[in-house]
Amino acid sequence: MRAVRTLGLLGTGVIGAGWAARALHFGIDVVAADVKPEMEAWLRDAIANAEPALARLTLAPLPPKGVLSFTTSPAEMAARADFIQENVPEQLELKQKVLAEISRHAAPDVIIASSTSGLTPTDLQRDLRAPGRFCVAHPFNPVYLLPLVELVGGQQTAPQTIAAAQEFFRYIGMHPLHVRHEVPGHLTDRLQEALWREILHMINDGVATTGELDESIVYGPGLRWAGMGTNLIYHLAGGESGMRHMLAQFGPCLKWPWTRLEAPELTATLIDRMVEGTQAQAAGRSIRELERLRDDYLVAIQQVLRQFDVGAGSTLRALEQRLYVDAGRGVGGQPAVDAQPLRTLSTHVRPEWIDYNGHMTDSRYVQAFGDAMDALYRSVGIDEGYRARSRMFYTVESHVVHKAEAHCNEPIEVTTQILSLDEKRLHVFHRLLRTSDSALLATAEQMHLHVDTAQSKAAPIDGEVRSRLERLAGSHASLPKPVDAGRHVGPRVQ
Ligand SMILES: NC(=O)c1ccc[n+]([C@@H]2O[C@H](COP(=O)([O-])OP(=O)(O)OC[C@H]3O[C@@H](n4cnc5c(N)ncnc54)[C@H](O)[C@@H]3O)[C@@H](O)[C@H]2O)c1
Repeated sequence: MRAVRTLGLLGTGVIGAGWAARALHFGIDVVAADVKPEMEAWLRDAIANAEPALARLTLAPLPPKGVLSFTTSPAEMAARADFIQENVPEQLELKQKVLAEISRHAAPDVIIASSTSGLTPTDLQRDLRAPGRFCVAHPFNPVYLLPLVELVGGQQTAPQTIAAAQEFFRYIGMHPLHVRHEVPGHLTDRLQEALWREILHMINDGVATTGELDESIVYGPGLRWAGMGTNLIYHLAGGESGMRHMLAQFGPCLKWPWTRLEAPELTATLIDRMVEGTQAQAAGRSIRELERLRDDYLVAIQQVLRQFDVGAGSTLRALEQRLYVDAGRGVGGQPAVDAQPLRTLSTHVRPEWIDYNGHMTDSRYVQAFGDAMDALYRSVGIDEGYRARSRMFYTVESHVVHKAEAHCNEPIEVTTQILSLDEKRLHVFHRLLRTSDSALLATAEQMHLHVDTAQSKAAPIDGEVRSRLERLAGSHASLPKPVDAGRHVGPRVQ
């Protein structure tokens, strides 16, 4: 299967727009097709709404954003895409028709995936040209923040389609879950439906309000579910003997059972209760306002889970590791050893980095230089394995000089020059530049000390890392000493 540079989207409603925002953010171009031309404005607005939360998800260096184009011609989209994701309404015949059509315009090595919530891939791939490249890729709303995507192959799906789809979805920061047997509703929507069916029954019977039922989740199980699923949580609930005890204690209730297996009739009364209940919960807040609240806490939760390396936090960690490695290789394949200061960071000024003066706030300069050092470390082989051996550099001194203002959303980059290196110390000079005209925005001179982190003591740099740093330092030795190197705080001494 081919490398994916351009994602083609068919249908740009809630889910199509979510795919677009995620792909563009991680540097993939998007060509989006919808039958309704007015969806272009809607799509651009939805992408702009997703951006503030997405921009906060990770501080790892991101590649330049992808470019969006829109068309009302599915054929044009299919001809330009390296990977196609279909997101039209959930109707079997409509999906079969549009999938067959785009398959005639897409090269046979272009994967075609469907966002279907519950239709099975064997039914959907029936009329496709080259059906082996088809699979279901079921995401979750908001697609730009939730990493889960269920991958399901049909009877004609080739195993390499699933493997290539996994690779692409991981690249854009997702957690592909391979659903090995095709069943209606895949895995997650079957579980969600079971819960929802019981909610509808309890509302119908007047047992509780929508708000009370939501409280029953968000103050309890919902918090646990973010890091461990129902099964592992129940294993813990069984005490020392775990799941075996849990099943012995609560197994008999399953025979009654507490819950019902048929959904209630959706009568006008039940619909009214659901609508009025959720309107009361919204308490006058618009959908957009509630989406922003949801997005903000989804970002925060993932960042906390990253500390514990569980669930979506592990996915975020893996994504960041890849982004740092890519940045360490240098934008545009710049080699790690060059008689040029190394380009260690390429990003843009994020909206939340702006202070009350309207430009980038002090602490973000330090962060940008820190991210640049991380990229330098990774490029010389300092990774989790190195840190696990209790080896790392600590920053012992920094001097930042501010030269010009950095404004919201401006592309910026950092270059790093090695001034000197010895057994334990690495002396560097960073320049923060505006990418568009290479204007110098700030510099930072830093001393980093290599330590044995277990003993909190300075220690010699390990062999391979040391020799890579030496090669780099050797190539930088011919560069002129920066004017601001060695500068003290106060008026310049002539
Ligand atoms: N909404 C969710 O929470 C959710 C979650 C996961 C998966 N899904 C699945 O994603 C798919 C899309 O759902 P949605 O909520 O985005 O729907 P939506 O109604 O918001 O968007 C569908 C879009 O498809 C366009 N469309 C209709 N016919 C078309 C055609 N022939 N060619 C091109 N475009 C066409 C419509 O103009 C519309 O913009 C469905 O299969 C749904 O089951 C939805």
